[in-house]
Amino acid sequence: MKLNSANINVMVKACRKASKTLIRDFGEVENLQVSLKGPGDFVTASDKKVEKILIEELLKARPNYSILSEEVGKIKNDESFKWIIDPIDGTANFLHGIPHFAISIGLEENKEIICGIIYDPIKDEMFIAEKGNGSYLNNQRIRVSSRKNLKDCIIFTGGPRINSENRDLALKEYENFSSKVLTPLRKLGSAALDMAYVAAGRCDGFWQRNLNYWDIAAGIILVKESGGFVTDFKGEDKYIENKTVLATNSKINNEMIEVLK
Ligand code: IPD
Ligand code: CA
Ligand code: CA
Repeated sequence: MKLNSANINVMVKACRKASKTLIRDFGEVENLQVSLKGPGDFVTASDKKVEKILIEELLKARPNYSILSEEVGKIKNDESFKWIIDPIDGTANFLHGIPHFAISIGLEENKEIICGIIYDPIKDEMFIAEKGNGSYLNNQRIRVSSRKNLKDCIIFTGGPRINSENRDLALKEYENFSSKVLTPLRKLGSAALDMAYVAAGRCDGFWQRNLNYWDIAAGIILVKESGGFVTDFKGEDKYIENKTVLATNSKINNEMIEVLK
């Protein structure tokens, strides 16, 4: 494999360490489904524990890098390098004992993502990408799919949350897509894994409104380095500002933009 940066090793080590806690806690969550209180508080605590391990490991190896992480927010250091962390992406799945969630870490250099890792601890699938060096799943190079017509594809989407901004618009987009094309649509519940699956060619495209940067930071480089496109719904690269993300195998990008209009 051609991945060689020392930063990748740091990310892999942090993920492996945090995933031990995550796997152990997931076992407990499965037991808590039948308890009257339910696993809510336990999951919140688990999310924080996983985040703490990740941050400790990353800061130990790179004490001067900044951090943006979902639960603790910003840790300011040298702003030219920044880790973007989602300790558990797919929390609702985790909470319900559904084995589909991941740790996601992206690394920014001067506001550009240069490395990303998405680790699904239950399936032991580690998706890694590095700028200029491609995307990998457990050390094997991955590529986006080559399907050219939307009608032959599988598309992923997510949301919208109950109180999310533009919820009506998001519901309309969903309805619109379903009525315009017969393409199978899936909601698997982890935006990070949705992007990783586009990168691995398991699905052909993914769109969602109102995602946060930590949901997609690692996914952006995974999709790009495996030959895909990441744009906003208009095909421009303002996906972070506009909070609309469209990730595709590149070939269906235009067709997706038309359908989402
Ligand atoms: C969520 C997941 C989900 C997406 C939500 C996200 P979380 O992240 O990525 O797939 O639909 O918009 O907030 O809360 O599990 O980290
Ligand atoms: Ca998330
Ligand atoms: Ca999360």
